[in-house]
Parts: sequence; structure tokens; C-alpha cells
Amino acid sequence: MNIVIITGASSGMGKEFALQLDAGLYTVDEFWLVARRKDRLEELAAQLDHMAKVIPADLTCEEDMEKFRKLLKEERPVIRMLINSSGYGIMGRFTEMERQERLGMVDVNCRALTDMTCACIPYMKKNSRLIMMASSAAFLPQPGFAVYAATKSYVLSLSRALREELREKGIYVTAVCPGPVRTEFFDRAEKYAATLAVKKFSCVEPEDVVRAALTASARNRAMSVYSPLMKGFHLLSKTLPHSLLLEIAQKMK
Ligand SMILES: NC(=O)c1ccc[n+]([C@@H]2O[C@H](COP(=O)([O-])OP(=O)(O)OC[C@H]3O[C@@H](n4cnc5c(N)ncnc54)[C@H](OP(=O)(O)O)[C@@H]3O)[C@@H](O)[C@H]2O)c1
Repeated sequence: MNIVIITGASSGMGKEFALQLDAGLYTVDEFWLVARRKDRLEELAAQLDHMAKVIPADLTCEEDMEKFRKLLKEERPVIRMLINSSGYGIMGRFTEMERQERLGMVDVNCRALTDMTCACIPYMKKNSRLIMMASSAAFLPQPGFAVYAATKSYVLSLSRALREELREKGIYVTAVCPGPVRTEFFDRAEKYAATLAVKKFSCVEPEDVVRAALTASARNRAMSVYSPLMKGFHLLSKTLPHSLLLEIAQKMK
């Protein structure tokens, strides 16, 4: 059985990946939709033409991950695509947010993504694809969004290394690095601090980011950076000293 696994499928870009793949991917038998909100996953499953398995799971919960690994062992699917979209960010000063919020970002964005990826790779074959939701926050440290930006640097670094490790198995790895995207992400992110005006101005739609990400993955690109503004930011982050960019960013606040 050929399957696609999407984490974070209950909203935002994870859900959008499911909808776009449903319309175009004919060689897949089933979609496995993973997130905590079962009702949202069921709603999405009902919308899809493909068969879909709803897997309500908190990816930071050891018991849920154990159940997921057991399911893989029992069903022995061929994972044609794994999309790691579960994640969250909370803006605010490092010491000001609650301990669980700070550590939770590391748990979901890094630890759970690592564990999920490792659980799935043995079931991937030549031409299987791995899509990792990083962020443009991976390009530069972000005072006021420090932990989130650090977790996304981790995701980008991990993706680039896995891309090399998995090359000999013929598995494609693409890191997706968008700037701000109009999703529920900001409902949680803005608990302590508001998004900078410049970020709000550059907000893009999830449909466009996902379309670009799927194209990049099909072309076996290492990264997908959507929008000219974010491409420019990426270039600057590779060419200018980060100390200078951080100084400019502080002045823009
Ligand atoms: N929106 C942006 O501006 C932006 C920009 C760059 C990168 N990103 C990244 O893109 C990815 C998708 O974000 P989005 O914008 O689509 O945000 P979103 O709409 O808030 O979606 C986040 C998803 O993560 C899931 N999730 C959170 N904690 C989880 C947990 N413990 N276990 C399982 N699933 C969990 C949520 O599902 P449940 O709540 O149902 O569990 C939800 O489906 C994230 O990794 C985010 O960091 C977002």
C-alpha cells in the first residue's frame, strides 16, 4: 500500500498539502492524517477523494508515538511522502513566556519531527519524498522569537544533512522556508507580542507556499523559499554579516 503521511494536517499548510495532493497524486492509496484535533482531521478526510486514515496524536507524547510506530509495523506501507508540518511558535522575550511554551517548541518542532522522520524512513523507497516545514526564521537568529527561530535552524540543518544521507537510497528531502503565512499559526504566536508590521505586510497565502513546496520537492530541490521578498532575505542572510542584519532588524522594531 502506497501512502502519504502529513503531520499537522488539522490546519494551515498541513491541511493545504492534503488538499493539493488529493487533487494531483493518483498513485497513492491512502493519506494518513496526523494531529491532535481529531474532529478537524475527520472533516478533512471527508473532503478528500483518496482514502484517508485519521490518526489523532500528540507527537510529543511517547505513548502516541509508540502507537504510531506499531501501526507502521502492522501495516508495512510504502511511504511515498512524509510531510512534517506540525509545529508552532510563540513570540516574546525568552524569559517572559511560560516554561512549557518555551520547551514545547523544542519538543514539537525538533524532537517530535526527528522522531517521526526516523520512524518513517525505513518505510520509504527510491523516489519517496520528505518535506520538512522549516521557516525563513531559520536564516537568522531572531531576538523576540529566539526559541522558534532556533528550532527552525535545527529543522533546516537536519533536512540538509538527511538529504545527503538519503541520497544513496534515492529519497528526496526538501526544506520549506516561508516567511509569514496566513494561517492559525499567529493565533498562538502572538500571545505575548505582536507581529512586526513589516512581517504582516509580507504575509502570503498557504495555497501558494504549498504549491511552490510541492514543485520544489518534485524537482528534488533542497529548499523551497516562496516570494521574492523571502528569496531576497535568504540571499542577504548568506552574504551580509548577521551582526549587521540583527542591528537593522532591531532598528525596524
Ligand atoms: N504560518 C507561518 O507564518 C509559518 C511560517 C513559516 C513556517 N511555518 C511552519 O509551518 C508549519 C505549519 O504551520 P501553519 O502555519 O500551518 O500553522 P497551523 O495552522 O497552526 O498548523 C500547525 C499544525 O501543527 C499541529 N500541531 C501542533 N502541535 C502538535 C502536537 N503536539 N502534535 C501533533 N500536531 C501538532 C496542529 O494540529 P493540532 O493542534 O490539531 O495538534 C496544526 O495542525 C509549522 O511547522 C510552522 O512552524 C509557519
